[in-house]
Amino acid sequence: MRVLVTGAAGYLGGHVVARLSAEGHAITALVRSPSRMSPWLAARARPLVRDLSDAIDPAALEGHDACVHLAVLWPETGAFPELGDVSACVRLFDALGRAGVSHVLYASSAAVHRPFVGRMTEADRIVTADAYGAAKASAEHFLHASASEHGFRASVVRPGPCVGLPADPDARPRTPRAIGELVEALRESRAVRVIEGEGRQLTACADLAEVIGRMLSDRGAPSPLLAVSRETTVWAEIATSVATRLGKPELVDIAAREASDAPPAFDTSRLERWLGRALDASSALEAHLDAISTLRDRDGPA
Ligand SMILES: NC(=O)c1ccc[n+]([C@@H]2O[C@H](COP(=O)([O-])OP(=O)(O)OC[C@H]3O[C@@H](n4cnc5c(N)ncnc54)[C@H](OP(=O)(O)O)[C@@H]3O)[C@@H](O)[C@H]2O)c1
Repeated sequence: MRVLVTGAAGYLGGHVVARLSAEGHAITALVRSPSRMSPWLAARARPLVRDLSDAIDPAALEGHDACVHLAVLWPETGAFPELGDVSACVRLFDALGRAGVSHVLYASSAAVHRPFVGRMTEADRIVTADAYGAAKASAEHFLHASASEHGFRASVVRPGPCVGLPADPDARPRTPRAIGELVEALRESRAVRVIEGEGRQLTACADLAEVIGRMLSDRGAPSPLLAVSRETTVWAEIATSVATRLGKPELVDIAAREASDAPPAFDTSRLERWLGRALDASSALEAHLDAISTLRDRDGPA
């Protein structure tokens, strides 16, 4: 398959390019500038230099069988920067439809399920409790609208906070915001307070890339699909692990949980039935924490 990958120079983009090129697909990497084509990426993909803030000519997208849309745009100006991302998605999905691309796979986020309550599944009605979740949920809706207008197949994957080393060995490690904030506080010797039992179901980047590869090749793949580990990783474990690495274990304060009900969690049975296994991000998390604990400063939310 010839696959267009937007955000190919990003954190998840590297993993998706690595996986799809290893599977024998021909990759086009949509990048904002030629300088984002690292030698590692150039060895695996041909470049298409475009800024998704601008209108995109469908002719530039012709010849692709599928697009994996990973780019996320946060314009630095404007009252509602998330709208910039939604607009870019709408333009891109429409251009892909006009170009005759037959499958568009969008990297949404488990964040569309906020506020997290109880046992959550893909069948839940999406409410959203923040602008990021609202932008991702809106883009999902526009994807389905474009798919219906142009007749392409639309797939949605919803990862949790992603962990693991970058696929490109020369790329700087990146981390989800919540983990980055914990690391930053501990590095600055500020105490961190975490609630016992609370955490997130993480996603190993390499697992996500495998799921995306399978969704591209399997017409029967379920969508939307929550691609998160079955087990929750609690913040207490992450904070203690980082604090121990930094030699400051006394800075972690684990407070008792007041609520009596079980912490919210995603039901991963749809993913597991289809993939044939549960995801587990624990070894990716170890490598991730080793890498970011030694970085001089935090790099980027996700
Ligand atoms: N990482 C996570 O924990 C996580 C969890 C759930 C969902 N997601 C979703 O997964 C997707 C990928 O996340 P990520 O962590 O890989 O993000 P990332 O590392 O920040 O990569 C985002 C990519 O978007 C590109 N981009 C930004 N503005 C652009 C523009 N105007 N035109 C073209 N490209 C542009 C960036 O280009 P440059 O390389 O030039 O900067 C970058 O390659 C996002 O949609 C994100 O919402 C991520």
